[in-house]
Amino acid sequence: MEIITKPKEMQAWSEAARCRGETIAFVPTMGFLHEGHLTLMREGRKRASLLTSSLFVNPTQFGPNEDFARYPRNFDGDCAMMRTVPVDALFAPAPETMYPPGSQTWVEVTELTQGLCGAHRPGHFRGVTTVVAKLFNIVKPHYALFGEKDFQQLRAIQRMVVDLNFDLEIIPVQTVREPDGLAMSSRNAYLSPDERRKALALNCALRAADALYRSGQRNVEELERAARQVLESTPGVAIQYVSAVDAETLERPLAPERPIVVAIAAHVGATRLIDNMILGR
Ligand code: PAF
Repeated sequence: MEIITKPKEMQAWSEAARCRGETIAFVPTMGFLHEGHLTLMREGRKRASLLTSSLFVNPTQFGPNEDFARYPRNFDGDCAMMRTVPVDALFAPAPETMYPPGSQTWVEVTELTQGLCGAHRPGHFRGVTTVVAKLFNIVKPHYALFGEKDFQQLRAIQRMVVDLNFDLEIIPVQTVREPDGLAMSSRNAYLSPDERRKALALNCALRAADALYRSGQRNVEELERAARQVLESTPGVAIQYVSAVDAETLERPLAPERPIVVAIAAHVGATRLIDNMILGR
């Protein structure tokens, strides 16, 4: 695996590959990899002749009181995991390379990022779409793979790709879960054993909403209520939001027969976790 730290070198690597007729899949990450990332990478391997990834803990997507400084990092461990896939080239820039002095251009998807996490993390999605747009311009992939766990992020990036005419295809990949149902996340590393047990409430809440949906319930408030009940009955879990919305627009009202996504953000102890489920899938 080649490790590249400079945008010009990464662009040259990808240009040369494209000239040889190769296709390039790309999995952007903030590191501290888990099976969810590896699943995206394996899917990328199947799609294209070359697989690239990036490792960059992006400061602009963290709020001033969020966990940027303590976000878990393990560069050598991540590289070892990427080599098992294998990844052909890793782009791992320094923060000052991505945001040199004088940087002042932002990419913002305005409507899809208003609700859900966007309402609680001002500036977060602007940071995500800006860095992802930069990474697309640097890595020049044909395919980019994103997990559905960050569902609003996925929708915002899909919108950005259409709106800004990026010449690539976004491949969504279903959330990878631990055997007991907890969605995989680098932030699960923050949980104590007791919090880890309580965190299961998020998946249980989504399954409660899904069971109600499968029994015929289509009223979104009722679906939210079913999920809320599970979370509220778990001590140590503090709900930030529970929302059942149109899975395309992330808004209400829903047009009849449109897929519904139930999205949850909750604190388990000091750790903020998110999860979601497309009902009836
Ligand atoms: O999902 C993530 O890990 C990050 O938001 C991403 C897409 C790598 C951008 O920093």
